[in-house]
Amino acid sequence: MTHIFWPSRRRMLDVLAAVLVLGPASKAQAQGVSALKIATIGAGAEGGALGTIFAKLGHPVMFSSRHPEQLKDLVAAAGPNARAGSVADAVAFGEVIFLVVPYPAVEEIGRDYGKALAAKPLVVDVSNPSAARDGETLAKWVDEQGGAGLATAKLLPGAHIVRAFNAFGHNGIHGADVLTKPSSGQTVGVPIAGDDAQAITLATKLIKETRFEPVLIGGLAKGKYLVPGSPISGEHTPDELRKIAASLK
Ligand SMILES: NC(=O)c1ccc[n+]([C@@H]2O[C@H](COP(=O)([O-])OP(=O)(O)OC[C@H]3O[C@@H](n4cnc5c(N)ncnc54)[C@H](OP(=O)(O)O)[C@@H]3O)[C@@H](O)[C@H]2O)c1
Repeated sequence: MTHIFWPSRRRMLDVLAAVLVLGPASKAQAQGVSALKIATIGAGAEGGALGTIFAKLGHPVMFSSRHPEQLKDLVAAAGPNARAGSVADAVAFGEVIFLVVPYPAVEEIGRDYGKALAAKPLVVDVSNPSAARDGETLAKWVDEQGGAGLATAKLLPGAHIVRAFNAFGHNGIHGADVLTKPSSGQTVGVPIAGDDAQAITLATKLIKETRFEPVLIGGLAKGKYLVPGSPISGEHTPDELRKIAASLK
């Protein structure tokens, strides 16, 4: 297996401290001390859209897949902060990892990179199980774990996971105005779920740099609602999301 860079605990604490001390980041801040190295595992419709946002905000971004040579157009479109690599490269590079793969791949990634991922301050789990796409057996297993949040935690033991961006499509993430903060009332909320307070804080700071507003709906057990077709899916204002979240068991 390719050599994996293990970030020191000190660096992990530095990353958290840099982000926690600073207020809401601007593009300029992102290019300075608070710029975080972000890696996406999976660089298709959703991983490509998310990585592009953060590259355009000034963060160094590495897109990855099993075929990084196919990511040239994506890298070119995402601009000078973007590059592509193998999954091992991305795990070595990223301080924050976005996991944006078909759900069956999560098990393999956990097996190959679980220890390295557990050393990151934040793994954003964007991946969704789908019976139609991934098969009934996997969907049943995920249900038995208590839904997607707890299932991902089982596949990535020790990782500091926050589920986010799962419940609305990549078309809502992409767009010319993607970096422009809308006037309030038009803000789109991003439901997030996690059990790790520091990871939630870091995810919140990152999402607040974008035009989206993070809304914590609960722990990873509530991650089961962060899937397409749930009451919380689709585009909602933050207030609407909070109301829906309050009705979820
Ligand atoms: N599309 C959306 O609007 C959307 C919205 C929210 C959440 N999601 C979720 O996000 C995930 C990705 O969806 P998508 O629409 O972006 O799919 P996609 O366009 O098919 O992209 C999947 C990406 O994952 C990579 N990949 C697949 N297996 C892999 C493995 N074993 N190791 C590393 N990389 C692997 C693929 O590249 P290679 O095959 O070259 O490795 C590709 O880059 C899914 O779980 C989906 O449910 C999607």
